[in-house]
Amino acid sequence: MTYQGTPHERGANRITGSEWIERYQGALMNTFGPPQRVLVRGEGAYVWDVDGNRYLDLLGGIAVNTLGHAHPAILDAVTTQLGTLGHVSNFFTSTPQVELAEKLLQLVGAEGRVFFTSSGTEATEAAFKATRRTGRTTIVVAEGSFHGRTMGALALTSKEAYRTPFEPLPGDVRWVPYGDTAALEAAVDDTVAAVLLEPIQGEAGVIVPPDDYLPAARRITTEHGALLWIDEVQTGIGRTGDWFAHHLSGVTPDLVTVAKGLGGGIPIGAFIALGDAGSLLQPGNHGTTFGGNPVATAAALAVIATIEDDHLLENARAVGDRIRADLADHSLVADTTGRGLLIGIVLTRPVSADVQKAALEAGLIINNPTPDRLRLAPPLILTAYQADDAVKTLRMLLDEAEAGVPGRGRQEGSRAEGGES
Ligand SMILES: Cc1ncc(COP(=O)(O)O)c(C=O)c1O
Repeated sequence: MTYQGTPHERGANRITGSEWIERYQGALMNTFGPPQRVLVRGEGAYVWDVDGNRYLDLLGGIAVNTLGHAHPAILDAVTTQLGTLGHVSNFFTSTPQVELAEKLLQLVGAEGRVFFTSSGTEATEAAFKATRRTGRTTIVVAEGSFHGRTMGALALTSKEAYRTPFEPLPGDVRWVPYGDTAALEAAVDDTVAAVLLEPIQGEAGVIVPPDDYLPAARRITTEHGALLWIDEVQTGIGRTGDWFAHHLSGVTPDLVTVAKGLGGGIPIGAFIALGDAGSLLQPGNHGTTFGGNPVATAAALAVIATIEDDHLLENARAVGDRIRADLADHSLVADTTGRGLLIGIVLTRPVSADVQKAALEAGLIINNPTPDRLRLAPPLILTAYQADDAVKTLRMLLDEAEAGVPGRGRQEGSRAEGGES
């Protein structure tokens, strides 16, 4: 029998968004707070909720949905691979696993070795363990950093509210202000195993360091025999208009961690170790059941091929620059930050939560990482037309926030035809 959709999709037993959220709260752990909407469908840069409302997705699952929603290339890669070989243990390999490792090394632009994971925090864990194999234990990390939530990754994540309930965390972490070369110079000595930096801090609100920061970090780590570890979990795989955000600075790191956008929505991460660092982890040092799964690696190959074929790096640069330029002169905007389609909007007043809520009501999904910053990380397929439409709505919402009346009116045409999903 052909699949006819869920009862909701068939129009039977229709359950509203608020009823689903009530059920969510009865069945799921309260780690994220109540969900904002119950999403049932996506296509391109749009998603629909269970109540039939359409949203332009300017967050892309927080920098994950590289190709938007329901992209045929991912669909085809995943279904073909699943119909051929869905999973093997790490006693074996599969052809997409090998191809993806080779492709990632080619994109990073250096020789090395790859360890696959299923998430960003696992990529951090793998790299953290690798640094211990240097015989040194100290890691220098930037204030404002976010590297994940497992115990090891949390030790390298700066936010006190995340850390304090779980202390003691793995130790020997030295904190430095982000973007401050002199502080880095003072913190790194011959006992340091690695310096870990995001090339643009994402969770902190899309903070871009000075141009000479990563080159300085490379010089300082080399001088002291320490590893330079760049966390590209949020910034990698084309998000900033380059394959990796550190490429613009011209440095070659020792360790690179990626996840989020790599699978375009299929869970996959990778720890890439370049040069000699590729042999830090040896048999028995680390492992995973799901990392490097054939379906996930096939999805990632499809994401990368589509970025190449559809010139999405160029699109990310052009559309990102357009959005930043078109918002920069609003009187509530102090600055626009980021590169490509990782965009920060710094407000002159701490009203980002109000603007985010009003945007959702108006049919735009955006994020407010700090009280005075908004973050956009839309699919790399976002068109100039969609960007212009979003900017028009955002400017209206910023006007309203400035006048103290955020949240009036839903975007024209943002309800799906017929009002049902
Ligand atoms: C820079 C960075 N590193 C690591 C992580 C953790 O990734 P995940 O949520 O997949 O565990 C994130 C997630 O937001 C991130 O932004």
